[in-house]
Amino acid sequence: MIEWTTFLADEVATVRAGNAVGAAMAKTDGLLTVHLQGDLGAGKTTLTRGVLQHFGHSGAVKSPTYTLVEVYELSERTVYHFDLYRLGDPEELEYMGIRDYFSGNSISLIEWPSRGEGVLPTPDVVATLKVQDGGRVVKLEASSDLGAALVERLTAQTQQ
Ligand SMILES: Nc1ncnc2c1ncn2[C@@H]1O[C@H](COP(=O)(O)OP(=O)(O)O)[C@@H](O)[C@H]1O
Ligand SMILES: [Mg+2]
Repeated sequence: MIEWTTFLADEVATVRAGNAVGAAMAKTDGLLTVHLQGDLGAGKTTLTRGVLQHFGHSGAVKSPTYTLVEVYELSERTVYHFDLYRLGDPEELEYMGIRDYFSGNSISLIEWPSRGEGVLPTPDVVATLKVQDGGRVVKLEASSDLGAALVERLTAQTQQ
């Protein structure tokens, strides 16, 4: 299993980890899908903010809980941030034309992917966040060749 784990002492550390994930994504060409697992408050949206920052988005990142998806058209890549917490039925994703989101070399970061099971494409990377010792632990596990390339880059980057 190709994976990367790190302890995040505070919110700033989570944003920095997101910056590092973004940098590894930028060097990984192709359609990238990342599932973000973890309880409410685990830091999924904060990590996403760090990824978006790497691609040049400096503003706030609102949780797309009611809209399900927020689109960020950034200079290098289009990033889709999904939050499926309130999704009643995976079929709703079909109605919103979910297939169009998974094309080109866009990046999708998906909170609560279990709510969209059966309709969402399989992920390249599964990121899991947990509360630990007043901070968080994040683990990224690769689940495709593209995901493995990404996690290997992240490992190389953060060892320097
Ligand atoms: N490493 C960390 N240590 C402590 N608090 C953190 C850490 N990372 C994020 N937080 C805080 O946790 C709270 C919830 O984060 P959020 O990203 O909204 O979680 P989620 O999207 O998983 O529900 C925020 O107040 C955020 O500042
Ligand atoms: Mg969130």
